[in-house]
Amino acid sequence: MIKIAFFDTKEYDKASFARYEKPGEIEFKFLETKLTEDTVELANDCDVVCVFVNDTVNDKVIDKLYASGTKMIALRCAGYNNVDVQHAYRKIHVSHVPAYSPYAVAEHTAALLLTSIRRIHKAYNRTRDFNFSLSGLTGFDLHGKTVGVIGTGKIGRIFVDICRGFGMNVIAYDAYPAADSGINYVTLDELFERSDIISLHCPLTEETKHMINAAAIEKMKKGVVILNTSRGGLIDAEALLEGIKARKVGAACLDVYEEEADIFFEDRSGHILNDELLSRLISMPNVIVTSHQAFLTEEALNNIAETTINNIRSYFENDGICDNELCYRCGNIENCKKARKERCF
Ligand code: NAI
Repeated sequence: MIKIAFFDTKEYDKASFARYEKPGEIEFKFLETKLTEDTVELANDCDVVCVFVNDTVNDKVIDKLYASGTKMIALRCAGYNNVDVQHAYRKIHVSHVPAYSPYAVAEHTAALLLTSIRRIHKAYNRTRDFNFSLSGLTGFDLHGKTVGVIGTGKIGRIFVDICRGFGMNVIAYDAYPAADSGINYVTLDELFERSDIISLHCPLTEETKHMINAAAIEKMKKGVVILNTSRGGLIDAEALLEGIKARKVGAACLDVYEEEADIFFEDRSGHILNDELLSRLISMPNVIVTSHQAFLTEEALNNIAETTINNIRSYFENDGICDNELCYRCGNIENCKKARKERCF
Protein backbone atom coordinates (compact mmCIF):
# COMPACT_ATOMS: atom_id res chain seq x y z
CA MET A 1 0.00 0.00 0.00
CA ILE A 2 1.25 3.48 -0.89
CA LYS A 3 0.32 6.29 1.50
CA ILE A 4 0.67 9.87 0.27
CA ALA A 5 0.65 13.06 2.37
CA PHE A 6 -0.52 16.03 0.29
CA PHE A 7 0.64 19.38 1.69
CA ASP A 8 -0.87 22.81 0.98
CA THR A 9 -4.05 21.29 -0.46
CA LYS A 10 -7.08 23.26 -1.60
CA GLU A 11 -10.55 22.01 -2.52
CA TYR A 12 -9.63 21.91 -6.22
CA ASP A 13 -6.64 19.64 -5.45
CA LYS A 14 -8.82 17.20 -3.52
CA ALA A 15 -11.41 17.19 -6.32
CA SER A 16 -8.87 16.38 -9.04
CA PHE A 17 -6.97 13.70 -7.07
CA ALA A 18 -9.93 11.99 -5.36
CA ARG A 19 -10.70 9.57 -8.19
CA TYR A 20 -7.22 8.00 -7.92
CA GLU A 21 -7.61 6.91 -4.28
CA LYS A 22 -8.07 3.14 -3.86
CA PRO A 23 -8.40 1.98 -0.22
CA GLY A 24 -5.78 -0.62 0.65
CA GLU A 25 -3.78 0.17 -2.48
CA ILE A 26 -3.17 3.92 -2.63
CA GLU A 27 -4.37 6.15 0.20
CA PHE A 28 -4.28 9.93 0.64
CA LYS A 29 -3.83 12.22 3.62
CA PHE A 30 -4.83 15.76 2.60
CA LEU A 31 -3.25 18.49 4.71
CA GLU A 32 -4.03 22.19 4.40
CA THR A 33 -0.77 23.27 5.99
CA LYS A 34 2.38 23.86 3.93
CA LEU A 35 5.34 21.55 4.29
CA THR A 36 7.96 23.18 6.52
CA GLU A 37 10.46 22.05 9.15
CA ASP A 38 7.66 22.42 11.71
CA THR A 39 4.99 20.43 9.82
CA VAL A 40 7.14 17.69 8.31
CA GLU A 41 6.24 15.24 11.10
CA LEU A 42 2.68 15.09 9.76
CA ALA A 43 4.07 12.89 6.97
CA ASN A 44 5.75 10.42 9.34
CA ASP A 45 3.49 7.51 8.39
CA CYS A 46 3.58 8.23 4.64
CA ASP A 47 5.69 6.79 1.80
CA VAL A 48 5.32 9.88 -0.38
CA VAL A 49 4.88 13.60 0.19
CA CYS A 50 3.10 15.50 -2.56
CA VAL A 51 4.02 19.20 -2.56
CA PHE A 52 3.31 22.41 -4.46
CA VAL A 53 5.18 25.62 -5.33
CA ASN A 54 5.32 27.23 -1.88
CA ASP A 55 6.14 24.19 0.24
CA THR A 56 9.64 24.30 1.73
CA VAL A 57 11.72 21.27 0.79
CA ASN A 58 15.14 22.33 2.06
CA ASP A 59 17.99 20.20 3.48
CA LYS A 60 16.48 20.02 6.98
CA VAL A 61 13.04 18.95 5.70
CA ILE A 62 14.65 16.35 3.44
CA ASP A 63 16.71 14.93 6.33
CA LYS A 64 13.59 14.62 8.49
CA LEU A 65 11.63 12.96 5.69
CA TYR A 66 14.50 10.57 5.01
CA ALA A 67 14.79 9.67 8.71
CA SER A 68 11.07 8.84 8.86
CA GLY A 69 11.24 6.60 5.79
CA THR A 70 9.68 8.77 3.07
CA LYS A 71 10.70 7.36 -0.30
CA MET A 72 9.52 10.01 -2.70
CA ILE A 73 8.78 13.73 -3.01
CA ALA A 74 6.20 14.15 -5.78
CA LEU A 75 5.87 17.76 -6.92
CA ARG A 76 2.45 18.52 -8.40
CA CYS A 77 3.93 21.40 -10.44
CA ALA A 78 6.65 22.01 -13.02
CA GLY A 79 9.05 24.42 -11.28
CA TYR A 80 11.21 22.93 -8.50
CA ASN A 81 13.23 25.89 -7.21
CA ASN A 82 11.77 25.19 -3.73
CA VAL A 83 13.39 21.72 -3.54
CA ASP A 84 17.06 21.10 -2.69
CA VAL A 85 17.44 18.37 -5.31
CA GLN A 86 21.16 18.07 -4.69
CA HIS A 87 20.58 17.35 -1.00
CA ALA A 88 17.87 14.82 -1.86
CA TYR A 89 20.26 12.84 -4.09
CA ARG A 90 20.84 9.33 -2.73
CA LYS A 91 18.18 9.93 -0.06
CA ILE A 92 14.75 10.60 -1.54
CA HIS A 93 13.59 10.47 -5.14
CA VAL A 94 11.97 13.65 -6.49
CA SER A 95 9.50 13.82 -9.37
CA HIS A 96 7.64 16.70 -11.00
CA VAL A 97 5.00 17.31 -13.65
CA PRO A 98 7.02 18.75 -16.52
CA ALA A 99 3.99 19.88 -18.51
CA TYR A 100 0.32 19.87 -17.58
CA SER A 101 -1.04 22.63 -19.68
CA PRO A 102 1.43 25.12 -21.03
CA TYR A 103 -1.63 26.60 -22.78
CA ALA A 104 -3.16 27.50 -19.40
CA VAL A 105 -0.15 29.64 -18.44
CA ALA A 106 0.42 31.17 -21.88
CA GLU A 107 -3.28 32.02 -22.23
CA HIS A 108 -3.38 33.59 -18.76
CA THR A 109 -0.39 35.72 -19.75
CA ALA A 110 -2.29 36.90 -22.82
CA ALA A 111 -5.39 37.56 -20.67
CA LEU A 112 -3.34 39.73 -18.30
CA LEU A 113 -1.80 41.62 -21.19
CA LEU A 114 -5.14 42.39 -22.86
CA THR A 115 -6.81 43.24 -19.54
CA SER A 116 -4.04 45.67 -18.72
CA ILE A 117 -3.59 47.49 -21.99
CA ARG A 118 -7.33 47.69 -22.80
CA ARG A 119 -8.22 48.62 -19.18
CA ILE A 120 -10.80 45.82 -18.94
CA HIS A 121 -10.40 45.67 -15.14
CA LYS A 122 -11.30 49.37 -14.92
CA ALA A 123 -14.21 49.09 -17.36
CA TYR A 124 -15.67 46.08 -15.50
CA ASN A 125 -15.79 48.01 -12.24
CA ARG A 126 -17.20 51.12 -13.92
CA THR A 127 -20.11 49.49 -15.74
CA ARG A 128 -21.10 47.53 -12.61
CA ASP A 129 -21.56 50.96 -11.06
CA PHE A 130 -23.47 52.20 -14.17
CA ASN A 131 -20.53 54.48 -14.98
CA PHE A 132 -20.34 54.41 -18.78
CA SER A 133 -17.60 57.02 -19.17
CA LEU A 134 -14.63 56.11 -21.40
CA SER A 135 -12.37 58.70 -19.88
CA GLY A 136 -8.93 57.27 -19.06
CA LEU A 137 -9.61 53.95 -20.80
CA THR A 138 -7.56 54.58 -23.97
CA GLY A 139 -5.40 51.54 -24.75
CA PHE A 140 -3.07 50.67 -27.61
CA ASP A 141 -3.07 48.13 -30.46
CA LEU A 142 -0.94 45.02 -30.02
CA HIS A 143 -0.66 44.69 -33.79
CA GLY A 144 2.78 45.85 -34.92
CA LYS A 145 4.22 46.08 -31.39
CA THR A 146 7.40 44.25 -30.41
CA VAL A 147 7.15 41.62 -27.69
CA GLY A 148 10.30 40.24 -26.07
CA VAL A 149 9.88 36.71 -24.74
CA ILE A 150 12.47 35.52 -22.21
CA GLY A 151 12.52 31.72 -22.09
CA THR A 152 11.19 29.88 -25.15
CA GLY A 153 10.38 26.50 -23.61
CA LYS A 154 6.91 24.96 -23.62
CA ILE A 155 5.03 27.99 -22.26
CA GLY A 156 7.16 30.66 -23.92
CA ARG A 157 6.70 29.15 -27.37
CA ILE A 158 2.91 28.99 -27.04
CA PHE A 159 2.95 32.62 -25.95
CA VAL A 160 5.09 33.39 -29.02
CA ASP A 161 2.41 31.80 -31.22
CA ILE A 162 -0.37 33.76 -29.50
CA CYS A 163 1.55 37.01 -30.03
CA ARG A 164 2.12 36.18 -33.67
CA GLY A 165 -1.65 35.73 -33.99
CA PHE A 166 -2.05 39.34 -32.91
CA GLY A 167 0.38 40.45 -35.63
CA MET A 168 3.11 41.33 -33.15
CA ASN A 169 6.80 41.35 -33.93
CA VAL A 170 8.32 38.66 -31.68
CA ILE A 171 11.92 38.69 -30.46
CA ALA A 172 13.25 36.32 -27.82
CA TYR A 173 16.10 35.51 -25.50
CA ASP A 174 16.89 32.04 -24.19
CA ALA A 175 20.09 30.72 -22.62
CA TYR A 176 19.54 27.63 -24.79
CA PRO A 177 17.86 28.86 -28.01
CA ALA A 178 15.63 26.34 -29.77
CA ALA A 179 17.24 25.35 -33.07
CA ASP A 180 15.04 25.53 -36.19
CA SER A 181 12.22 27.17 -34.25
CA GLY A 182 11.98 30.15 -36.57
CA ILE A 183 12.21 32.39 -33.48
CA ASN A 184 14.20 35.59 -33.83
CA TYR A 185 16.69 35.36 -30.93
CA VAL A 186 18.50 38.48 -29.76
CA THR A 187 20.74 39.27 -26.79
CA LEU A 188 19.07 40.09 -23.48
CA ASP A 189 20.19 43.72 -23.74
CA GLU A 190 18.75 44.04 -27.23
CA LEU A 191 15.49 42.52 -26.02
CA PHE A 192 15.32 45.05 -23.17
CA GLU A 193 16.03 47.92 -25.56
CA ARG A 194 13.60 46.98 -28.36
CA SER A 195 10.55 45.49 -26.62
CA ASP A 196 7.25 47.28 -26.04
CA ILE A 197 6.16 44.28 -23.97
CA ILE A 198 8.42 41.85 -22.08
CA SER A 199 7.15 38.45 -20.92
CA LEU A 200 9.07 36.13 -18.59
CA HIS A 201 8.92 32.36 -19.17
CA CYS A 202 12.28 31.09 -17.90
CA PRO A 203 12.88 29.18 -14.65
CA LEU A 204 14.12 30.81 -11.46
CA THR A 205 17.78 29.91 -10.96
CA GLU A 206 20.77 31.66 -9.40
CA GLU A 207 21.48 33.03 -12.87
CA THR A 208 17.98 34.38 -13.52
CA LYS A 209 17.21 35.73 -10.02
CA HIS A 210 16.35 39.46 -10.30
CA MET A 211 17.09 39.48 -14.02
CA ILE A 212 14.58 42.33 -14.14
CA ASN A 213 16.39 44.80 -11.87
CA ALA A 214 17.11 48.53 -11.90
CA ALA A 215 19.87 48.17 -14.53
CA ALA A 216 17.60 46.14 -16.83
CA ILE A 217 14.68 48.57 -16.43
CA GLU A 218 17.03 51.44 -17.23
CA LYS A 219 17.66 49.84 -20.66
CA MET A 220 13.95 49.38 -21.45
CA LYS A 221 11.67 51.58 -23.55
CA LYS A 222 9.60 54.17 -21.73
CA GLY A 223 6.13 52.70 -21.21
CA VAL A 224 7.24 49.06 -21.40
CA VAL A 225 4.69 46.48 -20.21
CA ILE A 226 6.22 43.73 -18.06
CA LEU A 227 4.47 40.35 -17.71
CA ASN A 228 5.55 37.73 -15.20
CA THR A 229 3.72 34.41 -15.00
CA SER A 230 6.91 32.45 -14.26
CA ARG A 231 8.45 32.97 -10.80
CA GLY A 232 8.41 36.07 -8.59
CA GLY A 233 12.15 35.99 -7.93
CA LEU A 234 12.88 36.83 -11.57
CA ILE A 235 11.93 40.44 -10.76
CA ASP A 236 13.45 42.75 -8.17
CA ALA A 237 10.06 44.07 -7.06
CA GLU A 238 11.53 47.20 -5.42
CA ALA A 239 13.22 48.14 -8.70
CA LEU A 240 9.94 47.48 -10.53
CA LEU A 241 8.06 49.79 -8.16
CA GLU A 242 10.69 52.50 -8.69
CA GLY A 243 10.36 52.02 -12.47
CA ILE A 244 6.59 52.44 -12.21
CA LYS A 245 6.88 55.52 -9.99
CA ALA A 246 9.36 57.05 -12.46
CA ARG A 247 6.79 56.44 -15.28
CA LYS A 248 9.40 54.29 -17.06
CA VAL A 249 7.38 51.08 -16.74
CA GLY A 250 3.98 51.60 -18.34
CA ALA A 251 2.30 48.57 -16.78
CA ALA A 252 3.11 45.37 -14.92
CA CYS A 253 1.08 42.16 -14.75
CA LEU A 254 2.24 39.79 -12.05
CA ASP A 255 0.89 36.30 -11.44
CA VAL A 256 3.84 35.60 -9.15
CA TYR A 257 5.65 37.59 -6.47
CA GLU A 258 8.96 36.83 -4.76
CA GLU A 259 7.45 36.88 -1.26
CA GLU A 260 4.18 35.19 -2.25
CA ALA A 261 4.63 32.07 -0.09
CA ASP A 262 2.86 33.43 3.00
CA ILE A 263 0.34 35.55 1.10
CA PHE A 264 -0.97 33.97 -2.09
CA PHE A 265 -3.63 31.23 -2.37
CA GLU A 266 -5.49 32.42 0.78
CA ASP A 267 -8.35 34.85 1.47
CA ARG A 268 -6.65 37.70 3.34
CA SER A 269 -9.41 40.23 2.67
CA GLY A 270 -10.13 40.74 6.38
CA HIS A 271 -6.49 41.30 7.30
CA ILE A 272 -3.96 44.11 7.06
CA LEU A 273 -1.31 43.05 4.57
CA ASN A 274 2.13 43.21 6.17
CA ASP A 275 3.95 43.44 2.86
CA GLU A 276 4.41 47.16 2.08
CA LEU A 277 5.91 46.49 -1.33
CA LEU A 278 3.09 44.27 -2.55
CA SER A 279 0.49 46.68 -1.12
CA ARG A 280 2.11 49.57 -2.97
CA LEU A 281 2.30 47.60 -6.22
CA ILE A 282 -1.36 46.57 -5.96
CA SER A 283 -2.33 50.21 -5.31
CA MET A 284 -0.88 51.29 -8.66
CA PRO A 285 -3.48 51.85 -11.42
CA ASN A 286 -1.23 50.16 -13.98
CA VAL A 287 -0.43 46.99 -12.02
CA ILE A 288 -2.52 43.82 -12.12
CA VAL A 289 -1.76 41.04 -9.65
CA THR A 290 -3.25 37.55 -9.85
CA SER A 291 -2.51 35.03 -7.13
CA HIS A 292 -0.39 32.41 -8.95
CA GLN A 293 -3.48 31.52 -10.92
CA ALA A 294 -2.04 30.99 -14.39
CA PHE A 295 -2.06 27.20 -14.12
CA LEU A 296 -5.64 26.97 -12.85
CA THR A 297 -7.72 25.36 -15.58
CA GLU A 298 -9.76 22.14 -15.52
CA GLU A 299 -7.43 20.62 -18.08
CA ALA A 300 -4.30 21.50 -16.13
CA LEU A 301 -5.66 20.19 -12.81
CA ASN A 302 -6.66 16.88 -14.39
CA ASN A 303 -3.27 16.53 -16.08
CA ILE A 304 -1.43 17.39 -12.85
CA ALA A 305 -3.34 14.71 -10.91
CA GLU A 306 -2.89 12.06 -13.61
CA THR A 307 0.85 12.66 -14.10
CA THR A 308 1.57 12.94 -10.36
CA ILE A 309 -0.15 9.62 -9.64
CA ASN A 310 1.55 7.99 -12.65
CA ASN A 311 4.92 9.25 -11.38
CA ILE A 312 4.29 7.73 -7.95
CA ARG A 313 2.95 4.44 -9.32
CA SER A 314 5.78 4.07 -11.83
CA TYR A 315 8.38 4.65 -9.10
CA PHE A 316 6.89 1.93 -6.88
CA GLU A 317 5.99 -0.49 -9.68
CA ASN A 318 9.07 -0.10 -11.98
CA ASP A 319 11.89 -0.62 -9.54
CA GLY A 320 12.41 3.09 -8.90
CA ILE A 321 12.46 4.17 -12.53
CA CYS A 322 10.27 7.17 -13.18
CA ASP A 323 10.45 9.26 -16.36
CA ASN A 324 9.71 12.47 -14.52
CA GLU A 325 12.27 12.00 -11.78
CA LEU A 326 14.46 15.04 -11.09
CA CYS A 327 17.95 14.95 -9.78
CA TYR A 328 20.76 17.46 -9.91
CA ARG A 329 22.54 15.31 -12.48
CA CYS A 330 19.57 15.21 -14.85
CA GLY A 331 20.39 16.71 -18.21
CA ASN A 332 24.15 16.48 -17.58
CA ILE A 333 25.09 14.31 -20.56
CA GLU A 334 27.99 12.51 -18.88
CA ASN A 335 26.34 11.86 -15.53
CA CYS A 336 22.64 11.53 -16.34
CA LYS A 337 21.64 7.95 -15.59
CA LYS A 338 18.02 8.56 -16.45
CA ALA A 339 19.06 9.37 -20.03
CA ARG A 340 20.45 5.81 -20.09
CA LYS A 341 17.08 4.51 -18.76
CA GLU A 342 18.59 3.72 -15.35
CA ARG A 343 17.52 4.79 -11.86
CA CYS A 344 18.85 8.20 -10.81
CA PHE A 345 20.33 6.44 -7.77
P1 NAI B 1 10.53 24.90 -19.93
O1 NAI B 1 11.57 24.18 -19.16
O2 NAI B 1 9.80 24.20 -21.03
O3 NAI B 1 11.15 26.24 -20.55
C1 NAI B 1 12.02 27.08 -19.85
C2 NAI B 1 12.89 27.80 -20.86
O4 NAI B 1 13.73 28.72 -20.16
C3 NAI B 1 13.83 26.84 -21.64
O5 NAI B 1 13.74 27.11 -23.02
C4 NAI B 1 15.19 27.18 -21.09
O6 NAI B 1 16.23 27.02 -22.06
C5 NAI B 1 15.02 28.64 -20.72
N1 NAI B 1 16.05 29.13 -19.81
C6 NAI B 1 16.75 28.43 -18.88
N2 NAI B 1 17.63 29.24 -18.28
C7 NAI B 1 17.49 30.46 -18.85
C8 NAI B 1 18.15 31.70 -18.67
N3 NAI B 1 19.14 31.85 -17.79
N4 NAI B 1 17.77 32.76 -19.45
C9 NAI B 1 16.79 32.60 -20.36
N5 NAI B 1 16.14 31.45 -20.58
C10 NAI B 1 16.49 30.39 -19.84
O7 NAI B 1 9.51 25.45 -18.84
P2 NAI B 1 7.97 25.88 -19.05
O8 NAI B 1 7.11 24.70 -18.85
O9 NAI B 1 7.84 26.68 -20.28
O10 NAI B 1 7.78 26.81 -17.75
C11 NAI B 1 8.45 28.06 -17.63
C12 NAI B 1 8.30 28.56 -16.22
O11 NAI B 1 6.92 28.87 -15.99
C13 NAI B 1 8.62 27.51 -15.13
O12 NAI B 1 9.99 27.57 -14.78
C14 NAI B 1 7.76 27.91 -13.98
O13 NAI B 1 8.53 28.69 -13.09
C15 NAI B 1 6.67 28.80 -14.60
N6 NAI B 1 5.32 28.27 -14.39
C16 NAI B 1 4.39 29.10 -13.81
C17 NAI B 1 3.09 28.66 -13.61
C18 NAI B 1 2.04 29.55 -13.02
O14 NAI B 1 0.97 29.05 -12.64
N7 NAI B 1 2.26 30.84 -12.93
C19 NAI B 1 2.71 27.28 -13.96
C20 NAI B 1 3.76 26.52 -14.62
C21 NAI B 1 5.02 26.99 -14.79
